[in-house]
Formats: sequence, C-alpha cells, structure tokens
Amino acid sequence: MEPIPLPSYIHYELLLQLLERKTRVALYHNSRQYEQVNQLIITLRKALALQKQLEQSCIHANLPTESCWSLNEINPEANSSSFPDNQLINIDTQINAMDDKLMLMIPGPTPVPEQALLAMAKHPIGHRSGEFSKIMAEVTENLKWLHQTQNDVLILTTSGTGAMEAGMINFLSRGDRVLCGSNGKFGERWAEVAKAYGLEVDVISAEWGTPLDTEKFREKLEADTKKEIRAVIITHSETSTGVLNDLETINRYVKAHGEALIMVDAVTSLGAVNIPIDEWGLDVVASGSQKGYMIPPGLGFVCVSAKAWEAYKTSDLPRYYLDLGPYRKSATKDTTPFTPPVNLFFALQATLRMMKAEGLEQIFARHQRLTKISRAAMKGLNLPLLAPDDAASTAVTAVRPPEVVDAEKVRSVVKKQFDIALAGGQDHLKGKIFRVGHLGFVSDRDILTAISAIEVALRELGYEGFTPGAGMAAATKVLAES
Ligand SMILES: Cc1ncc(COP(=O)(O)O)c(C=O)c1O
Repeated sequence: MEPIPLPSYIHYELLLQLLERKTRVALYHNSRQYEQVNQLIITLRKALALQKQLEQSCIHANLPTESCWSLNEINPEANSSSFPDNQLINIDTQINAMDDKLMLMIPGPTPVPEQALLAMAKHPIGHRSGEFSKIMAEVTENLKWLHQTQNDVLILTTSGTGAMEAGMINFLSRGDRVLCGSNGKFGERWAEVAKAYGLEVDVISAEWGTPLDTEKFREKLEADTKKEIRAVIITHSETSTGVLNDLETINRYVKAHGEALIMVDAVTSLGAVNIPIDEWGLDVVASGSQKGYMIPPGLGFVCVSAKAWEAYKTSDLPRYYLDLGPYRKSATKDTTPFTPPVNLFFALQATLRMMKAEGLEQIFARHQRLTKISRAAMKGLNLPLLAPDDAASTAVTAVRPPEVVDAEKVRSVVKKQFDIALAGGQDHLKGKIFRVGHLGFVSDRDILTAISAIEVALRELGYEGFTPGAGMAAATKVLAES
C-alpha cells in the first residue's frame, strides 16, 4: 500500500487503529480549522480507496454544508443520526493553541472583552424576574449615559438593520416624503427600506468614498416651504467606505426646516465618536450591539425623542414585532415585551460598566487615535485611502491599494499567517479595497499588530512600493504625538 501523507496533527497510529476497528470517526471543528479538516477528509478518502476492508467505515463530520459532499462521496448513506453516541470517537483537530488566537479587525462583529464573555457564560434567567429587571434598569440608565440623552433608549432583539427599520417605520406614514442620504451600502439600504414601506424617497447621493454634500440637504430643505419632508435619514458612519458624514451640519438644516425628523444610522458611530443626542436634538438614533457596545450581535438600540413620539401617534405604517410602543411601555417596568436574549444583557451590563469606567471623552479619544494611527500607517505604506481625512470614520479605515496589489490577497495572507480578520469591500468595491476595523474593544496594541501584519502581507505579495517599516514608523509617530 502506498504511504499516505497525513497532516502532522493526526496521530498515525491512532488513525490506523480507528480504521482497523472500522470505528466511526467524528470530526469536530470550528470554521478556522476548516481547511485542516478538509485536508483530513481528503486523506481519509484516499485511505478508504486503498483499504477495501474499510468500506463500511463512515465518517461523520460536523462541517459546514459546502464540505459535506466529501463525506457523501465516501459513504452516501452516512448520516449523523445513524451513529450511536457511544461509537463516536472525537478527534480534536486543533493543531495548537495559537489557532484560537483570532483577532477581529473588522467593523463588526467587534472583539468582545473577557468581562462580557464571562458574564454571558451563566445560566439564563427569567426575563420576568426581579433579577432581570434590576439588570434592565441599570442597563437602561447606562444606555442613556452612553447616548447622552434623557430620551427613551429602547432595546430590541434585532441586528442594527432591525433597529434602524424600527426607527423609521414607527414615526412615518404611507406616502410620506423622506430625504435619504446615500453614499454607500447602508445609505442605499435605508432608501430601500423606505421604499419597501411605500414612502416617497428623495435620495441625495454621493460617490462611495465621498461624504454627503451638506449643501444639497440645505437646498432641498429650504425649498420645501410646504413642509412636506417628514424625515431626513442619514448614515452617520458609512461602514462600507469608512466615511463619516457631517451629521451635525445636516441636522442644523433639519432643525431650520422645523418639521422633519432626523433619523440617524449610528450603527458604527455610537460609542466611537461624539453624538450629543439631546444637545443636537436628534429624533431617532439606531445602533447595534456588535459594534461600539463590545458585545456579540443580537441587540438593537433605538433612541427616540419626544418629537418622534408625537409622530408615532399618527404613524400608520404596518408593524408588529418592531412596534416601539410596547417596548416603551415595557421599559417603564424594566422589562421587554418579548423574550430578550438575557445572556446578551449580562454582557451589555458588563461592557456598559467598562465604558463608564473608561469615560466617554476617553472612548472617543481612543477611537480618534486609532483612526489617525491606521490612516498614517496606510499612507506610510503608500496605500491610498478611500475616505478623505476630514470625513474619516472612527470605526473603520478603508484602504484602496494600487492595482498591482490584490486587496483580497492582502486579507487572505493576513488571515492565514496571523489569524487577523480584515474586512473586504462590498458591491462594486469588492476585491478593490480592504477595511481595517478599529471599533469597540480595540487598543493601540491591536492596531499596531494589524499594521505590521499588513506590511508583511504586502511584502509577501511582492509589493515594493513602500519603504520597509514605513507603516509602523508612521504609526508610532502618531502614537508618540498623541
Ligand atoms: C453603518 C451600518 N448600518 C447598518 C448596519 C447593519 O447592521 P446589521 O448587520 O447589524 O443589521 C451596519 C452593519 O455593519 C452598518 O455598519
């Protein structure tokens, strides 16, 4: 029999033993070990082809569907339900501890601190219990602090999109005219949501990578002497391009208009840049847990002004789960209308305490510093940035490398070699940009690490358009000056 090359982490003797005993093998994996597991399956397939006596053996792997074909090819009858538990032998495919050292440098989900992870690792509690109400009361209070508001901050079991959709459909009526800013993926989304609910949408767009032109908003709002515009919908930090839109100026024009509500997608700006909600008089501000909140995905937040609640009284758009009325009512009793993900509340309680301990000013300053560091480093590496300096998101830096550098390959090398996840481009920017997230639980150390990894990747890809070390030199200079 031909010798079969085995991955180094598979104990050869153990494998032989398993095969001889015709024992069923269960492979457990996580997605980061996908390639190794796939390699193992290929090896086992070769083994099966060579060893007739193993025809009855089957392999069950708890794998993503795209790799199941390889199992079916070995034994089409293979089916997890036919394996009695006591015959399962688990091979832990983990190569070494470093495999689990994933570093998320994407603009969401963002890294989760240990305090939150540990808080979540508890038994769930009843959401109608006094214990939950205590948490809800504390969390609500701290959310108001984070939002710099006395308005209601409602907590929904949704992602950011659900929170934003709720923010739009509770305060508008069929046929209402809205102005929607669109200079990226998320701006486009809000125009689509508005259209889906039968609103009359006036889109003010700008090139992806360019901030919204505030003058266009002024002109439209000033021209609306009949006060037909019911809302202005803005994505504050446009995550798809790394652009921070000038919310403060646009909001000033909305206030001068007097009637329209301002609805803000603050999904990647809340907790990353100053948004004084009460001072500016923002009506609807939506955000999501997997961003500046430093906890996993699953919770959406909507901050609602008194003026928006007035509009709620006459709003006629269809809604049920996203009807904010019951959320508001329940919140007065420190509870939620539907079963919430209670363990996420434990995590939220922990991270809001952390945020309070750090302080709002410090949080914003940290995000500002991380932004400056990453932008300086990319410029040092001669990698052009998509967003201009004066409209830079503090959550994410979008990098548009020269054509000789394949953005996807940069991401791939950084991921494979360092287990650092960077984000790619969306829609027409797919393959053209990569995005470095620096939102939430991200420190100076993290950004420096990511910059070094990017430089290594560039070198490996043969890009010679920079002086070695220039990225870190620029980064450390900013760090020293801040
Ligand atoms: C600015 C912005 N708005 C909305 C969303 C949508 O949030 P979710 O994917 O949580 O629905 C995102 C997600 O990345 C975002 O960055």
